[in-house]
Amino acid sequence: MQSITLQTPDDWHLHFRDGDMLKETVPATARCFKRAIVMPNLVPPVTDADMANAYAQRILDARPQGSDFTPLMTLYLTNQTTPDTIVKAKQAGVVASKLYPAGATTNSDAAVKGIEALYPVFEEMQKQGMLLLIHGEVTESHVDIFDREKAFIDAHLRKIVDAFPALKVVFEHITTSDAADFVLDASENVAATITPQHLLLNRNDLLVGGVRPHNYCLPVLKRNTHQQALRRVVASGSSKFFLGTDSAPHEKHRKESACGCAGCYSAWSAIELYAQVFEDLDALDKFEGFASHHGPDFYGLPRNEGTITLVRESWSIPDSIVLPNGNPIVPFFAGQTINWKLQTS
Ligand code: DOR
Ligand code: ZN
Repeated sequence: MQSITLQTPDDWHLHFRDGDMLKETVPATARCFKRAIVMPNLVPPVTDADMANAYAQRILDARPQGSDFTPLMTLYLTNQTTPDTIVKAKQAGVVASKLYPAGATTNSDAAVKGIEALYPVFEEMQKQGMLLLIHGEVTESHVDIFDREKAFIDAHLRKIVDAFPALKVVFEHITTSDAADFVLDASENVAATITPQHLLLNRNDLLVGGVRPHNYCLPVLKRNTHQQALRRVVASGSSKFFLGTDSAPHEKHRKESACGCAGCYSAWSAIELYAQVFEDLDALDKFEGFASHHGPDFYGLPRNEGTITLVRESWSIPDSIVLPNGNPIVPFFAGQTINWKLQTS
């Protein structure tokens, strides 16, 4: 096959950041995605309708000329979030709220301690038809980092989906066979996003032959058997799994550091890397469902009009990109050659 044409896809999990950085991140995503679920872990986090509206406007202002890219806004749940916060956010067009267990990842210090305390909020979300997006890792220091996703399923996720059967839950950026199995066995109201890095890499790519900080993200890459399980579920074409890049930029010096940040900046190559995964799996016929159909269908939103086309053409991902503030950032898969390229008119 020499080209792949897809109904225009969306990114169901993305970090744009804020300020100057938007001039870099918004065009990178808008080059191929029509919509993106915008993660709310700014400093301070996006915790109410007014903050979400103001952030959406800053994103819209950073779009390239002529772009019709549309951000889909989310709230960051804290122990201060109330049912009324949810009602107002829903009225303002916020589509989802994100649960970060406190300390789970970048800028999650404000997040939730004691998930049961949020049950009245989940009740209101269920009533309002607002989706719950979950970073599914426990954060207790005695739990090994490679076991934190499974521990979260057992300690919290089963209880949440049992208590709120009509609440739509997205288990974000899943990394294990345990998570894939949980989603497959759960009701039709439970789905998951999967990143390019968790399909392409495993923990050897993080640790063998030296620590590779640009492959460090959270949840951390797992062993090869888990990577294979994720590849199997996307190749199966199950509508419970859809595209969420988790593209999460951090400046080069913050990644290449004694205490490096978690996150892979994949926006400039994500759609091409996913294409490569589906081709390697001999499952290109399942690519459009994953990239363009399963997400909007689950969210209850229309599928996009229009198409994008990827052509078979080798190109190298740059070693580095200069951010609007003059600092370098190393994109995901920097310096590597990939075989698919987005056709731009
Ligand atoms: O690797 C990650 N980076 N995982 C997350 O959950 C957050 C993200 C970020 O915001 O940098
Ligand atoms: Zn994320």
